[in-house]
Amino acid sequence: MKTIIEPFKIKSVEPIRLTTPAEREARLREAAYNVFLLKAEDVLIDLLTDSGTAAMSAEQWASIMRGDEAYAGSRSWFRFLAAVQDIFGFSQVLPTHQGRAAEKILFATLCKPGDVVPNNTHFDTTRANVEYTGARAVDLVIPEGRQPQTRHPFKGNMDVAALERLIAEVGRERIPVCMLTITNNSGGGQPVSLANARAVSAVCRKHGIPLYIDACRFAENAWFIRLREEGQSHRAPLDIARELFSLADGCTMSAKKDGMANIGGFLATNDARLAVDQQNLLILTEGFPTYGGLAGRDLDAIATGLYEALDPDYLLYRITSTTYLGEHISAAGVPIVQPPGGHAIYIDAAAFLPHLKPLDLPGQALVVELYREAGIRAVEIGTLMFGRRDPETGQEHPAPMELVRLAVPRRVYTQSHIDYVVEGILAIWNKRDAVRGYHITEQAPFLRHFTAKLAPRT
Ligand code: F0G
Repeated sequence: MKTIIEPFKIKSVEPIRLTTPAEREARLREAAYNVFLLKAEDVLIDLLTDSGTAAMSAEQWASIMRGDEAYAGSRSWFRFLAAVQDIFGFSQVLPTHQGRAAEKILFATLCKPGDVVPNNTHFDTTRANVEYTGARAVDLVIPEGRQPQTRHPFKGNMDVAALERLIAEVGRERIPVCMLTITNNSGGGQPVSLANARAVSAVCRKHGIPLYIDACRFAENAWFIRLREEGQSHRAPLDIARELFSLADGCTMSAKKDGMANIGGFLATNDARLAVDQQNLLILTEGFPTYGGLAGRDLDAIATGLYEALDPDYLLYRITSTTYLGEHISAAGVPIVQPPGGHAIYIDAAAFLPHLKPLDLPGQALVVELYREAGIRAVEIGTLMFGRRDPETGQEHPAPMELVRLAVPRRVYTQSHIDYVVEGILAIWNKRDAVRGYHITEQAPFLRHFTAKLAPRT
């Protein structure tokens, strides 16, 4: 048998509806060509994010019903704690409402103005939380990780020599923590190898710098290690994950990704002294330490979901279905970040629409076209998201890359949904010369992509 099937059957369904072209045109106009402003019910296939959008299993729904809502010391907390300690191996665990809350507490307790935090690539909330403390966030991904078309099995790897250089340059005392993001979301959902994690860990230990893993997609990363790294093909994803975390001093986690849950996260560490400060901040901003920012039922669903994310049958299906989407569009010539990532496919919109300049927002033009053509919602990662308007001159500065991310929610869509997405993208590919650019008519001073209003170029 060569067909890799969805390793589940469907017990509960949610209707989706294809709107007419006239309806989609009207919805786009009402949303000022910003798909964040669309109603989800007007979207057919929603690839905006893989965060909090997973379908929960029957076991997770059973966990929800078992949820113990005691304020302190609930059974759900102890199930959550046992699962996190078993998989991640850290002694201190603080539950948070999502990943960025864990980041906020970690950096608030470690960083001060003038500090420097290296990462392979900071996710935007991670960078924002580092910068909020007055520290500087530095991305040290290997050069291949910055080249969309270059193939490399572990494009998320950190440049270890660059890390050594940074430490020599700024001094160990200005680096309170080093992060490794697995998989590297902002770099295309690309994995980090075990060899690279070992090397980064060795450098950090030599200099006495704590290493923390941004663990959002740790199970997908473990699967890539099993698939691509020499000598790893016999190992269980759980076993690989445990080794990865044994190399670090702690982690931040968004359970909205490989926790298979719709909300949740945690901060974990082996540093019991630091954990006291972190716990005090947790009580101030999230909640009592045995529930943090979560209901007991959420803790329970995550405890179950973390193991489901490590199931080899699930991971085989998961990575195969993302790869399937990437390979089918790239075989027809569509330029994507190669090789396909774990949770998403990133289209190189600058290469897809070479007649548009960065300030014509080619990524957003493609995002609008995906909705107009097929009711698909994706997200622009280019000049709309990361470009800057000079507040004095009004001059727009483009982002380094113009990408469109198609993030695949976990266990939500079937192969025919993905075939439909492929058809939609290829329909636009075949008439790409006619796609027009956009410009921004209204924008907020930061994180402008969420609320910006746009208009087509005339
Ligand atoms: N780190 C990484 C690598 C992420 O991808 C995210 C979220 C976070 C941290 C923050 O977690 O959302 O639970 O606060 N990424 C989502 C996305 C939003 O669409 O990629 P959070």
